[in-house]
Amino acid sequence: MSRLVIVSNRVPVPTERGPRAGGLAVAMADALEPGSLWFGWSGKRTARAATVPAVLAEADGISYATIDLSDYEYRLFYSGFSNGVLWPLLHFRLGLVHYRSEEYQCYRAINRRFAEALAPLLGPDDVIWVHDYHLIPLGEELRARGVTNRIGFFLHTPFVPPEVFRALPRAEQILASLCAYDVVGFHTEEFRRGFLRCVHDILGLAPDADHGVTMGGRRAQAIVDPIGIDAEGFAAAAERAWRGNEVRRMRASMAGRALAIGVDRLDYSKGLVQRLDGFGRLLAQHPEHRQRVSFLQVAARSREDVNEYQELRIALDRIVGDTIGQYSEFDWVPVRYMTRPLRRGTLAGFYRVARMGVVTPLRDGMNLVAKEYVAAQDSRDPGVLILSRFAGAAEELTEALIVNPFDPDEIADAMHTALTMRLEERQARHRALREKVWASTARRFSEQFLAALAGRDG
Ligand code: G6P
Repeated sequence: MSRLVIVSNRVPVPTERGPRAGGLAVAMADALEPGSLWFGWSGKRTARAATVPAVLAEADGISYATIDLSDYEYRLFYSGFSNGVLWPLLHFRLGLVHYRSEEYQCYRAINRRFAEALAPLLGPDDVIWVHDYHLIPLGEELRARGVTNRIGFFLHTPFVPPEVFRALPRAEQILASLCAYDVVGFHTEEFRRGFLRCVHDILGLAPDADHGVTMGGRRAQAIVDPIGIDAEGFAAAAERAWRGNEVRRMRASMAGRALAIGVDRLDYSKGLVQRLDGFGRLLAQHPEHRQRVSFLQVAARSREDVNEYQELRIALDRIVGDTIGQYSEFDWVPVRYMTRPLRRGTLAGFYRVARMGVVTPLRDGMNLVAKEYVAAQDSRDPGVLILSRFAGAAEELTEALIVNPFDPDEIADAMHTALTMRLEERQARHRALREKVWASTARRFSEQFLAALAGRDG
C-alpha cells in the first residue's frame, strides 16, 4: 500500500490537550493510517526566515512535518496574496482584492520552500494530496524537483467563472499551476465548470469529454467531490453533550425560549451583517417572536491582520449593539454574540438545542456547519436549517429553507417560517437532509478523492 502524504497550510498537530478537530482534520481522519505524513506550516511566526528541513513530530503513528514562516513571510504569503487576493477573488469579492507583485513573489517563494522541505521526505510510492488555495503552485514546484508521484489538489473554497478570474494578475500562471496536478477536486459542479471554463477561455485549452485538461503532455482530471462530516460521530457527540453541563446551562438560560444559532469564522464571506439585519427585521415585522427567541452568533475571530476583517468586526459590534439596544428587555436579550471559538463538542450540543440553524454565507465552498447542524438534531423533534443558496452545501441539502443571503427580508421570512413550522414538516425535511448527510460523509470524500488520484473509479 502506498503512503498518504497530506499537505495543507495549517497542520493539526495534536497538542497535549488532544488532537485538534477542524473540518479538514475530521475529513482526513479516515484516510490517515499509521505511517501517513502531514506536512505544512507550523502556525509559528519567527523573526527570521523559515527552517528547512522540516521539524518532525509523531502522534498515533502519524508523522507531522512542519516549517515556520517569518513575520514578513506571514504578512506577504498568508495575509497578503492568500487571504488578501485569492480568498476574496474566489468568493466573488473583486472589490476586496489588493494585489501587490511582491506578495505574489513571496507566495511563489513559500510554495518553493514547502516543496524543498517536502521533497526529501517523499518515497517513490507516496500519494500526495495538497489542500487549498495557499498551496496551488506546490505540485508544480514538486514536479520541478523531479517528483513523479501522483499529486492531487483539493480546493476548499468556491471557484469562479472566467469573467471574475481574469481580474487576477497572474491568472494564467495560477491556472497552469493547477494543471500540473493529476487530480484537481472541487465541492460542486458549478466550481468545476468555472475552473474548466477558465482553462478554456484564459489558457486556450479544451477540456476533454471526461473533464480532463492536458498541458505539456500531462493530464489533470477535474473532479467533483463534496466534503462531508463524520455524521455518526457528530450525532453521538451531540447526544453526549446534551447530558453535559454546558447544554444544561444553556437550556436553563433560555428559560423555555427558542434558540437560533449561527457559527462561523468572523469572515466577510459569511454574510453576518445581512444575517443579523435579517434577525432584526424578524423582530420588527413579527413582534410575536420578541422575548420568545434568542439568536446566538458565534463568530470566531480570524485573519485579524487583514483590514477587511477588522472593519467587519466593527460593523458587527455595531449591528449587534443596535439590535440589543433596540429590542432587549431587562430579562431577555435578542442576540448573544461571541468572538471566541467554542469546542466542537459544546457546539454539537448547542446545535441540538437550537430550533433553527442559520447558515447564510454570501459564498462558501461547502460549509460544514450546515451538515453538522443536521447531524446534531433529535429526529423526533428536529430544528430547521436555513441555508444560503450560495453555500456549496445547498447543491446537496435542498430540503433546507434555502435563502438569498443578500436579502435580509428573505432571511427574516425564513426565520419566521422556521419558528412556526409544524412538527411533521420539520421531521420530513430533517429525514431527507439526514439521509444526505449520512451518505456524503468525510470518509466518502477522502475515499473518492484517493480513488480518483489512484486512477480508479470512486
Ligand atoms: C477556510 C479555508 C481553510 C482555512 C480555514 C481557516 O476554511 O478553506 O484553508 O484553514 O478557512 O482559516 P485560517 O486563515 O485561519 O487558516
